[in-house]
Amino acid sequence: MGDIAGCSCCSLVLCIIGFVTVAYYLLRWSWQCWHGFKVYMLSEIWQTDLRTFGQWAVVTGATSGIGRGYAEELAKRGLDIVLISRSEDKLRRVAKEIESKYKRQTRVIQTDFTEGHSIYPAIAQQLEGLEIGILVNNVGMNYTGTLANFLDVPDPDQRITQLINCNTLSITQMSRLVLPGMLEREKGLIINISSESASQPQPMQSMYSASKIFVTYFSRCLNAEYRSKGITVQCVAPLVVSTNMTYNISVNPLVKSAASFARDALNTVGYTTYTCGCLTHALQVNTTHNQFD
Ligand SMILES: NC(=O)c1ccc[n+]([C@@H]2O[C@H](COP(=O)([O-])OP(=O)(O)OC[C@H]3O[C@@H](n4cnc5c(N)ncnc54)[C@H](OP(=O)(O)O)[C@@H]3O)[C@@H](O)[C@H]2O)c1
Repeated sequence: MGDIAGCSCCSLVLCIIGFVTVAYYLLRWSWQCWHGFKVYMLSEIWQTDLRTFGQWAVVTGATSGIGRGYAEELAKRGLDIVLISRSEDKLRRVAKEIESKYKRQTRVIQTDFTEGHSIYPAIAQQLEGLEIGILVNNVGMNYTGTLANFLDVPDPDQRITQLINCNTLSITQMSRLVLPGMLEREKGLIINISSESASQPQPMQSMYSASKIFVTYFSRCLNAEYRSKGITVQCVAPLVVSTNMTYNISVNPLVKSAASFARDALNTVGYTTYTCGCLTHALQVNTTHNQFD
């Protein structure tokens, strides 16, 4: 008799554990689906009015790829654009195209972010007096087209410093330049472009993937520090986007064009402060890491 009672008590406990486990996973899954639906589908319909952040948007690495996508989309949504890149010719050409296509003002700043600290006083001077509502820290570089062990990186003496200057110093220094104005106006948006390659260590791209986790952590910390003061810091961690960096790989259901990536990623502003930027990338992340970012 006692054995039977003990046995049914055991079954009841197992049933409860099973029920709680299933309920937990169902709730988690439902929450992830709702989050993904909100960030990538509802955001298509109800977009944040980006003009409320301020008149000007500054985009680093703005003459091609994802940066150009952001510059064009921001102009389309009513902002004036400061474009920053290395090539004066490309800057003038893209600025002219934006002015005639979207009827917005533009300014260009020619600089090379691999040069380090010395470039920032001149950038600060050229940004002076502008009401900067949005900063897109997009500029970034990888090794010159190679996968390589750390010691086999071509021209390591220069490359190490250049990559750190371009991928990490640029983000911290540009944020330092625009944040005081944003704090004064109690509003602002900083978008930092990280990479999915920051989600786990990527051997053969050690410095690139380490520099991108720096971007992710820096963004999340900055957002925690300044969100109560009206500043949003969003980290965008794309998978593959067809650009010069990815040898203009053909666009397909997994690979986005830069223009459509920037459009989708900008829709997520106001919905999330950490995102891979678009639904197709979110589905890929979800399949590999079981989460919707
Ligand atoms: N494409 C992807 O699949 C992918 C995936 C994840 C993350 N990302 C990240 O997204 C960002 C943009 O990548 P992308 O693929 O769009 O690159 P991209 O097509 O190579 O464009 C880079 C842009 O930055 C400018 N630039 C490059 N080096 C510069 C420097 N030292 N100083 C100033 N400007 C410089 C380039 O113009 P100039 O040559 O005229 O200077 C160009 O406008 C990077 O941070 C990258 O790590 C890209």
